[in-house]
Amino acid sequence: MRRNAALFLIPLALSAQAIQYSESSRVWLLTTRQSSYAVGIAADGAVRHLYWGAPLWRMDDLPPAAARRDLSSFDPRQMLENEEFPGWGGPRYYEPALKVTRENGDRDLVLKYASHRIQGNDLDIALKDIRDDIQVTLHYTVYPEHGILRRNATIRNGTAHPLTIESAQSAAWYLPPGDGYQLTYLTGRWAAETQLNREPIHEGMKVLESRKGHTSHNFNPWFAIDRGDAGEENGRVWFGALAWSGNWRITVERTAYRQVRVTGGFNTFDFAYPLKPGETLDTPLFYAGFSESGFGGASRTLHRFEREEVLPGGKESRLRPVLYNSWEATTFNVNEAGQKELAEKAARLGVELFVMDDGWFGKRNNDRAGLGDWFVNPQKFPQGLKGLIDHVNGLKMDFGLWVEPEMVNADSDLYRQHPDWVIRFPDRPRSELRNQMVLNLARADVKEYIFGVLDKLAGEYHIRYFKWDMNRAVSEPGWPELAATEQRKLWVDYVRNLYEIVDRLRARHPQLEIESCSGGGGRVDLGILQRVDEVWPSDNTEAFDRLRIQEGFTQAYAPKIMSAWVTDVPNMNGRSTPLVFRFLTAMQGALGIGANLNRWTQQDSDVATRMIALYKRIRATVQTGDLYRLSSPRTNDVTVNQYVSPDGKQSVLFAFRHSQEYNTAAPVIYLRGLDERALYRVEAVDGKLLDRQPQLSGAYLMRAGINVNLRGDFDSTAVILDRL
Ligand code: DGJ
Repeated sequence: MRRNAALFLIPLALSAQAIQYSESSRVWLLTTRQSSYAVGIAADGAVRHLYWGAPLWRMDDLPPAAARRDLSSFDPRQMLENEEFPGWGGPRYYEPALKVTRENGDRDLVLKYASHRIQGNDLDIALKDIRDDIQVTLHYTVYPEHGILRRNATIRNGTAHPLTIESAQSAAWYLPPGDGYQLTYLTGRWAAETQLNREPIHEGMKVLESRKGHTSHNFNPWFAIDRGDAGEENGRVWFGALAWSGNWRITVERTAYRQVRVTGGFNTFDFAYPLKPGETLDTPLFYAGFSESGFGGASRTLHRFEREEVLPGGKESRLRPVLYNSWEATTFNVNEAGQKELAEKAARLGVELFVMDDGWFGKRNNDRAGLGDWFVNPQKFPQGLKGLIDHVNGLKMDFGLWVEPEMVNADSDLYRQHPDWVIRFPDRPRSELRNQMVLNLARADVKEYIFGVLDKLAGEYHIRYFKWDMNRAVSEPGWPELAATEQRKLWVDYVRNLYEIVDRLRARHPQLEIESCSGGGGRVDLGILQRVDEVWPSDNTEAFDRLRIQEGFTQAYAPKIMSAWVTDVPNMNGRSTPLVFRFLTAMQGALGIGANLNRWTQQDSDVATRMIALYKRIRATVQTGDLYRLSSPRTNDVTVNQYVSPDGKQSVLFAFRHSQEYNTAAPVIYLRGLDERALYRVEAVDGKLLDRQPQLSGAYLMRAGINVNLRGDFDSTAVILDRL
C-alpha cells in the first residue's frame, strides 16, 4: 500500500493539476493519487466515457472519443459508445441516466455537449437536448489526495412546459473492456445487516436498491467490482458509494457487447418528479474510486475519505467517546432513579457518554403509544430531564437522548391533532409496523414541527447527543393533499427535509452530535454520514454475528463511526460468548456498553474497567488508523483484524477463535502495514501470545508472523504493538 502510494505520486507531480483538458482532442483527464478518469467529446457532440483505472499523466496518450459504426440494424452504434450520461432517446436500450416525459407525451432525449467549466478540482460539463432546452450539468469533484471522484447531475427544465422526470441518475460508470468481472455488494435484513456477497457479473442487469424510503437493511448503496482476481490485499478494485438515504438504485449491467456499466441515483421505481419551467433537480452524490491493493485498499481509501471529507468536522472531529446505552438493560422502563443508578455504575467503568434510550416521553410504556409526543413523561421524570442530566454531567459524562422524530403512534396526542400528517392513501388500509406510522416529512409544516421539537430539546437541556432512530420503512406512500402528478415528489423531498432538519440543528447547536439508527443499520450511507457522527450498524449485538456484520460494514464505512456495544448473554441465537470476547469485538469500532449493569458481578465490572482503559489507549489507532482485515470470519475459524495508526507508532491486532477443532493451533498471523526496520514492543491481552520476545521487528512480524494461543470456543485476544 505504502509502496504503491509513492508510485502514485509521480503522475500528480508531473501533471500538477487534478483536472486537465485538451482543446485539440477535446478530452478531460481527472487524476487522483491512485486513479485517473477520462471523458471526451465525440465528433457528433456526445460526451463519452474513455478511461477509468490506474493513474495516467499524459494527455496526448488519450485518443479523442471515436465514432463507432452500427454492427447491424439491431445493434446500433449508440449501444457501443459508452455515453457518459445517456438520455433515454434514439436507439439506446441500456439503462439510461435520464428519462423524461414532456407534457405532449414526447419522451425522446438526446444529450450533447454545450459547454464546460473547470474551477480548481471541480469540473462542470453542460449538456443539452438536441432540440429542447432541457439541460443537464454533470458535476465532477476530484479529491486528488484521497483517490476519490464525486459525481452528480443537475437537471434543469429550460422549456416553457412542465416535464416529468422518470429516471434521474447521478452517474453512469464504465469498467474497462474485459471479461471475468465480479461484483461485491452488501445485503441483509433486520439484525443481519451488511452481509458480504461476491458473484460473477453476467449479461443482463443486477439491481441493488431500496424502495423503502430509507437506505434499508436489505441492500447498502455500495459496490466493488474486480476482474475476478482481486483479494483482500491484491488486485484491481473499482468501487463506489451513493449518498442517498431514501429510495436509491444501483444497476450493474453487462451488455451484449461485453461492456460492464454501473448506473446509480434515485430509484426509478415509483419515481415521477415533476419539473416546472425553470425548476431544477439535483441527483444524489455518487462517490467512486479505484484501488490496486484489493478490497482492503479500497476500504482504507473510503475510510480515510469519510473521516476527512464526509463526516461533520472532518479531520478536526473528536474521537468517539465510550458510550453507555440503556436500551437492552431497561427497554421502555426508564425513570430518573433507575437511570441515575445505571449512570453511576457506567461512570465507574470509565464511560464518557450516557445515552438514555426509548421510553422517556409521552405515554411511552411500550411500543403502542407515545411516539410524536416529545414531552418528558412526568411520572418517570417528575422534574423533567434536568435532574438526570445534571447527575450524569456531575459524573463527568455527557448526556445523550434517544428520539424517533419521523414517527407517530395512533395513540398519541400528535396523531389525534394531526391525522393528516401521516403518509397514507386515504380510504385505503394502512400498515402500522411496530404500531407506528410515518409522518410526511416532505410537508413543510411537518418539517418545521420536527425541527422545532428537537431544537427545543437541545436548547432546553444540556444534550450532547441525539440517537436518531427510525423503526419502520415507508409504505402506502400517498400525499393526498397534492395533485396525483405531484405526489411522488414525496420520495425525494422527504429525504431532503430530513437532511435540512439535521443541518439546521447542527448549525444551531454546534456541540450536538448525532447517531443515525434505523432499527439497526437501516440508514447508513454517505448522505446521512455528512450529517452524523456515528451509526448503529445492527440491533444484533451478539458478538459472533457482529464479527461478520462488522466485516461487511467496514468494506464501505469507517470503524470510527461503527457503534458497537457489549451486551449481556445469552444473546441472539441463544449464544453466550465470554465478556472479553464481547469487549474485543466491540472495541474494533466506537466502543459502547448496552448491558444491564445492575446484573453485573464485581468480576464483570473489573473486566469492563480494564477493557475500557485499554480501549482508551488504542482508540485513536482504531478510529483513525488503517484497517487490515487479515482473516475473515466467513472463511476461517479465526477472525483477525489489524489497525495501524496514521503515524505508524501503534498497531493493534484483534484475534478471535470461533470454534477450535481437532485440537488444531490457531494459524500464524502475518501482520501488515508496519515499518520493517522498526522494533515494536509487543503486549497481548491475557498473555495469549505464544511468542515470548517482548520486542519484535516489523520485518519479523510481517514475514515470520506471530502465534496466538486461542483455544476452545470463542477465545480471543488483542495484541498491542508500540513502535520503539
Ligand atoms: C431500535 C434501535 O435500533 C434500538 O437500539 C433501540 O433504540 C430501539 N429501537 C428503541 O425502540
